[in-house]
Amino acid sequence: MKAFQPKVLALGLAAAFCAGAAFAQVNVTVDASKPGAVIDKDVYGQFAEHLGTGIYGGLWVGPDSKIPNTKGWRNDVVGALKDMHVPLVRWPGGCFADEYHWREGIGPRNKRPVKVNTNWGGVPENNAVGTHEFFDLVEMLGADAYVNGNLGTGTPQEAAEWIEYMTSEGKSTLAELRAKNGHPAPFKVAYFAIGNESWGCGGNMRPEYYADLYRQWNTFLKAPQHLRPKMIASGGTGDDTAWTDILSRDLKGRTDGISFHYYTLPTGKWEVKGAATGFPESEWFSTMSQTLRMEDFVRKNVAILDKNDPEKKIGFDVDEWGTWYDVEKGTNPGFLFQRNTIRDAVVAALNFNIFHAHADRVRMTNIAQMVNVLQAMIITDNEKMLLTPTYHAFKMYVPFQGATSLPVSLSNNTTYGSNGQGVPGISASAAKAKDGKTYVALVNTNPHEATDVVLNVAGQNVGAVRGQLLTADAMDAHNTFEHKDAVKPVPFSATASGGKLTIKVPAKSVLVVAVEG
Ligand code: AHR
Repeated sequence: MKAFQPKVLALGLAAAFCAGAAFAQVNVTVDASKPGAVIDKDVYGQFAEHLGTGIYGGLWVGPDSKIPNTKGWRNDVVGALKDMHVPLVRWPGGCFADEYHWREGIGPRNKRPVKVNTNWGGVPENNAVGTHEFFDLVEMLGADAYVNGNLGTGTPQEAAEWIEYMTSEGKSTLAELRAKNGHPAPFKVAYFAIGNESWGCGGNMRPEYYADLYRQWNTFLKAPQHLRPKMIASGGTGDDTAWTDILSRDLKGRTDGISFHYYTLPTGKWEVKGAATGFPESEWFSTMSQTLRMEDFVRKNVAILDKNDPEKKIGFDVDEWGTWYDVEKGTNPGFLFQRNTIRDAVVAALNFNIFHAHADRVRMTNIAQMVNVLQAMIITDNEKMLLTPTYHAFKMYVPFQGATSLPVSLSNNTTYGSNGQGVPGISASAAKAKDGKTYVALVNTNPHEATDVVLNVAGQNVGAVRGQLLTADAMDAHNTFEHKDAVKPVPFSATASGGKLTIKVPAKSVLVVAVEG
């Protein structure tokens, strides 16, 4: 967490919000003949931290629970996440990672030490979920593992031994211990991060000092060549590009990615962030505007990487992003529980479109967080579970995982907002998916007005489009345990007429369609 202060837009009265070009037709042109970078599946990564009920209760209930589970993990939640094709899970934090000692989370669960979760609510942490349990989860999900190491309070020896414990295939005491604890074969660690938010909760360091520590640690983090995780350096946040600049120069040849964190706060202020529901339209607008700052952050950092790393060896990995609102009244403020509305689905889709446009550098991201925390996919309450609008947005975008990005240009776009403070009305992205089809994603940021989009795909005949639409009547429409399907995708199709395909994109909506000839 860091008290960065994004510029807050001075907004006029709600009446000032309008579509800049009412009744206009927006032209969206996709060039199927100029394929770009592949959108890594890991751009759709998730994050599960030891925070609130993000793991305990929301995902993990333990093998003795009455809630149906497999090896302690809830069947309902795991099943829904599998349906969403989660490709990657980051664990155990976040800020928690820099106080996590892996040896406390192995061996018989009833013998593991109980600690205080000092970052998140001061609640007891009984270490029931440790390395083996985490790998059980990712295995059930069919996902890859992103393990975040403890630079803040750990040592290079501790981290080196954790990596040896997870990956060693030879005869070693740690490999034998792993086998004794139930896993003879090595675990596959796709990514390993050296620290988290080292500028803040991870140690309040300067980038130069962090770079030196990274070099030292990285020297000793050894694994068999074919099992070596991609090593991730903990980078910057918001409009601070110094971390990317210094790390990409100092860690050349030593890192596979530099992380970046940016949270969307409606007000742009940490003290009063804005409510998750019941918010005014000015906060719908400012949320759109704040989240679209991601484009600028990515562009600036990528420009630095292009200068310092023209060979493109280093990824720009946004391993924490999403909305962060004021916590729900009556909940533990340290648990970061918030409701999730159609606004969150629109935010998610806007960020996907930004990540796709920079697919050559943005190779992995992790939304914060998977269950019950911040912009969650799933919300639980004891045995109850619901899917959020953000879950549906992720699922609708599954065809983009591993797809080849295609250039998209927009002309005559509408503007939502006023007085030169508007945001683009339509955001678009396109890709050739692994199933051979061209997919187009369209997002309408205007909460009142539908927009007509004329779709052209250069190099391909467009006879029709077919897919799914996610929208709602109210700006804060959300699912509840009583009305679990209040916000859910519905089938959508449109057919060309007179050689022209016009799509009416409803207000506040996310639309993903496949193009048919
Ligand atoms: O996602 C919640 C917290 O936000 C993470 O623990 C930390 O890295 C960030 O400040």
